[in-house]
Amino acid sequence: MGNAIEENLTEAVLARLTGAKDPRFRQIMTSVITHLHAVIRETELTEEEWFTAIQFLTSTGKKCDQRRQEYILLSDTLGVSMLVDSINHRMPAGATQATVLGPFYVSGAKEMPMWADIGEGVAGEPAYVCGQVLDLSGTPIAGAMLDVWQTDGEGFYDAQRGNEPYARGRFTTGADGRYGFKTIKPVSYPVPTDGPVGRMLLGMGRHPYRPAHVHVIVTAPDYERVATHLFVEGDKYLDSDAVFGVKPSLIVDFEQHAAGTAPDGRHCDTPYWTAGFDFRLARS
Ligand code: BEZ
Ligand code: FE
Repeated sequence: MGNAIEENLTEAVLARLTGAKDPRFRQIMTSVITHLHAVIRETELTEEEWFTAIQFLTSTGKKCDQRRQEYILLSDTLGVSMLVDSINHRMPAGATQATVLGPFYVSGAKEMPMWADIGEGVAGEPAYVCGQVLDLSGTPIAGAMLDVWQTDGEGFYDAQRGNEPYARGRFTTGADGRYGFKTIKPVSYPVPTDGPVGRMLLGMGRHPYRPAHVHVIVTAPDYERVATHLFVEGDKYLDSDAVFGVKPSLIVDFEQHAAGTAPDGRHCDTPYWTAGFDFRLARS
């Protein structure tokens, strides 16, 4: 004789959704219940394992505060953030592709003139990044804003050090759509591993590293906003980003130069790097 509860429970729980007023909520909860029950049936989850899962979710919540969002990290490392991003930003061909925002974006970064140095006083190798913001027909977009942020040369964001802001700035394109800024060459770095998500990665046999990148959000009136990265070509983690954020179109060649006249026209007295990237925005 079959076990009636085990056989019928999913249907019974779904049947209780008939009173849900919001049809979208009903649709999502139907899917969540169906798939959650399927996982438990497929794996024949033990009580001990389910309790471990509950403890994991509890400690994930307890790890969250003003500076740390462990649930976003969980979503990122399980590929959920990138899936939501991909479904919600189906860009037309030719438009710059989006990728994960990450937890270290801070709005209201200082507005800076062309070629200002966001890496001033930050340890690392100097790098100059420049290009144009264009529409899909290649026409320059004047007045586009680039909101840029990255880690220091040791792979830490300012928020992780808990001190003054660094390696952030906002730049506006001129009439020719051009932008340019000085920074330090980005380095690969691990996502925070001192919490439950770090333990989960360890258990999965995964490393926590993200390939070196600069974050950029580009906005312009009447155009779709794009939150994206410029990844450094040749980085050893490009094929195994801990948060699945790499798109080939966002990989940029950083070229090394001897000390001398830099792209901003000034003298750079140490070797430096240059990278060029044009952002292409779709009309909103
Ligand atoms: C980041 O690139 O800043 C980031 C993205 C996801 C998780 C942690 C960090
Ligand atoms: Fe990052």
